[in-house]
Amino acid sequence: MRNPFRASFGAVPLFLAGRDHALDGFEQALDYAPGAEARASLVIGARGTGKTVLLTEMESIARDHDWHVISLHTSAASLLEEARVRAVEILRELDPDARGYRLTGGSLATVGSVRGEHVDRYTEPLSPAATLERLTDLLGTETGLLFTLDEVQSVDPASLAAFAQAYQDLVRSERNVAFVGAGLGAGVHTLLDSPKTTFLRRARRVEIGMVDIGSAAASIQATVASTSKTIEPDAAVRAAEISQGYPYLIQYVGAQTWANAAENPTIMREDADRALASAIEQMATNIHGPALRDLAPRKLEYLEAMLADEGPSRVSDVASRLGTYHGYQSVYRDRLIEDELIRPAGRGYVEFALPYLREALQRRRDGVRGPSGELGGGVRARRTPGPGR
Ligand SMILES: Nc1ncnc2c1ncn2[C@@H]1O[C@H](COP(=O)(O)OP(=O)(O)O)[C@@H](O)[C@H]1O
Ligand SMILES: [Mg+2]
Repeated sequence: MRNPFRASFGAVPLFLAGRDHALDGFEQALDYAPGAEARASLVIGARGTGKTVLLTEMESIARDHDWHVISLHTSAASLLEEARVRAVEILRELDPDARGYRLTGGSLATVGSVRGEHVDRYTEPLSPAATLERLTDLLGTETGLLFTLDEVQSVDPASLAAFAQAYQDLVRSERNVAFVGAGLGAGVHTLLDSPKTTFLRRARRVEIGMVDIGSAAASIQATVASTSKTIEPDAAVRAAEISQGYPYLIQYVGAQTWANAAENPTIMREDADRALASAIEQMATNIHGPALRDLAPRKLEYLEAMLADEGPSRVSDVASRLGTYHGYQSVYRDRLIEDELIRPAGRGYVEFALPYLREALQRRRDGVRGPSGELGGGVRARRTPGPGR
């Protein structure tokens, strides 16, 4: 039987924990007037909190409302050109004139040539703005056009500004459009400072993070229930606790717990208990390891200075541990908060913001080797020697 959990980035899980509010808000906004500010949203959250999944769900909701969707990618040389190309594709499917031409074609051969003619209608130099206007005119007010953009934090600002201009023009002329972007908090905040992307600054912020343990347990329970296995309620709760409500871990711990039960039809609490060690290992190797490797040394020192406390750290204690030669602790603290590695925990305190970051830092500091003898960096020998390169 296949493991029903989806522990990989971008993979839409069978059951989403705790995102009703964000999704309902999005769905309602589709019915607002075209100019409503809620028509643009920005999903902000740390890696692994489910931004890409949320974006994918929003796209599905839009399609259910008969909207068309244009997914933009930060890897494109120009967002606006990518939007134009996709808009042309949709126009080809929709344009009643183009369809008319095709219907008049008599033989197969003419259909072929007519189709060539209709392709020309849109490949002739119609500007991106004109193409988008044409498409949104055709869609009218009954259906609309949703643009999505994942990984907003790594977009080229000039490319975003050019797209923003065209989008803002569509909004101004009351066309039925919406936009959802998703990205890491730190990068997104820098982008918002640009005067050229006003619509993003006004966009509805959807900050996502950990989900509550109850929702996490319910989603684990429902995922198992969709198969022929069952899970004891306290096992589902235990797995949710180990996940700490971090969406990536809900899937990872769910998958491990499932696998630990092997052939047993009922998943028990001990199956969840045994997932703890691999969750810590997984986070250290695949999530925190890469992030810590790229971290500025001063930031790393700040995090390591927090290890002396069992729970939240008092900011002034961290400062004194770092010594007087560090005049800028508050700068590093603020940057670490922006990086979503730590968060304020009441006045004058900070704590780690992601599950098992403490353990990952300890292992890194102590040079702990993983079960297969590797250091925390995920390097290992190839299992089968492949052909030499
Ligand atoms: N609401 C959710 N409930 C349960 N699992 C989720 C949820 N959102 C995302 N996941 C899982 O978390 C992992 C990371 O999701 P992803 O959308 O790629 O995160 P991000 O884009 O924020 O880095 C995936 O394995 C996905 O299946
Ligand atoms: Mg993502």
